[in-house]
Amino acid sequence: MQNSVLDLATGSGDVAYALARNLRAGTKITGMDFCRPMLDEAEKKQAALPRAEQIDFREGDGLNLPDHDHSFDAATLSFGLRNMADRHRCLSELHRVLRPGGRLWVLEFSQPFGWLRPVYYLYLRYILPRVAAVVTGDKSAYDYLCGSIAAFPTHEAISAEMKAAGFTAVTVERLTGGIVALHGGRKD
Ligand SMILES: C[S@@+](CC[C@H](N)C(=O)[O-])C[C@H]1O[C@@H](n2cnc3c(N)ncnc32)[C@H](O)[C@@H]1O
Repeated sequence: MQNSVLDLATGSGDVAYALARNLRAGTKITGMDFCRPMLDEAEKKQAALPRAEQIDFREGDGLNLPDHDHSFDAATLSFGLRNMADRHRCLSELHRVLRPGGRLWVLEFSQPFGWLRPVYYLYLRYILPRVAAVVTGDKSAYDYLCGSIAAFPTHEAISAEMKAAGFTAVTVERLTGGIVALHGGRKD
């Protein structure tokens, strides 16, 4: 049987393309986002990249997924959980559309540990928004980005939220000194 993977909040599709490159040939990948212009950007790359024909980019809201229960073998959500207006609802929707035994992987900013923590927050609060303002002319977008990263819950809290949405065997791998965390969970 053909495996199927949902990449929610796919944006310009980089994770969907990485999945197409690295998973077994023939795996069906759905790249989903509620923002049409992001999907247009994703589709522009489709002609040039290997196995891109395995990806179907579709519009859909992570708080109300347009797919039936038990539609996917796995799901990924990369730097998208932070943007969801209701994290519990999004995680519950992902749980609903996974088949029993299916796995969810969530990659998201997190809280760094040790000496990196104060240095990182100094960079995030004072340096990055100012540099970005000069380079892009849009300080407010980076103020929002930095604020949302700093306010995002700890990896322990996100693990608890995944369990509350029904996931079991929840794991976390802290990357780059804890700046990013990869959470995994299974639907029983
Ligand atoms: C920071 S981008 C991440 C893109 C991509 N996953 C990556 O790692 O490069 C966040 C994406 O989440 C999408 N998004 C936010 N809320 C959403 C929702 N409720 N349903 C679907 N997509 C959503 C945005 O449109 C945006 O494309």
